[in-house]
Amino acid sequence: MASSMRSLPSDHSRYLESFRLFLENSTEHQCMLEFIEKKLPGIISSIGNGKSAINILSVGGGSGEIDLQILSKIQAKYPGVTINNEVIEPNDEQILSYKERVAKTPNLENIKFTWHKETSSEYESRMNEKKEFKKWDFIHMIQMLYYVKDIPATIQYFHSLLEAKAKLLIILVSVFLPVLAP
Ligand SMILES: C[S@@+](CC[C@H](N)C(=O)[O-])C[C@H]1O[C@@H](n2cnc3c(N)ncnc32)[C@H](O)[C@@H]1O
Repeated sequence: MASSMRSLPSDHSRYLESFRLFLENSTEHQCMLEFIEKKLPGIISSIGNGKSAINILSVGGGSGEIDLQILSKIQAKYPGVTINNEVIEPNDEQILSYKERVAKTPNLENIKFTWHKETSSEYESRMNEKKEFKKWDFIHMIQMLYYVKDIPATIQYFHSLLEAKAKLLIILVSVFLPVLAP
């Protein structure tokens, strides 16, 4: 993958347009939804056992479309349990879309949403500075590792934040995002 893919383009609107075109022209989200329907229930089958609250960290949560699908499966598996869903997302527009999506989605009363406008490495540095090592029951990194500089170190850091019986879900699809003509 070209090294230019490893960092966020400075023009976010062009990036978002590229990603939108990619989604329109691929079966990526359809595959993801199928995965969430068929495989995710097994993956999350133990993350909340005996807990009164489940802590979820979405790394690069984007506009929240996939996150809300995931959350609905967790709600179904653990009815009535409080969910604390925190999102690391550096892009303002994505956070805004995520918040709008949450606002118009019913049945999210037991979920508390928190957005951190930063990259995964900024989150790591901030937590290290604060000496805060909050643990999580479920961490997911879906279609975002392309953008981090040091993939093994990023995975290692978030893996170290897992509670016992927690799960780390990583989804990567090998794609080339089209660069729009000027
Ligand atoms: C391809 S989108 C995937 C969004 C969502 N996870 C999904 O599957 O629909 C990648 C997201 O990662 C975010 N991102 C880019 N670099 C990041 C980084 N270093 N740390 C965290 N998120 C990042 C982007 O802003 C974007 O919203």
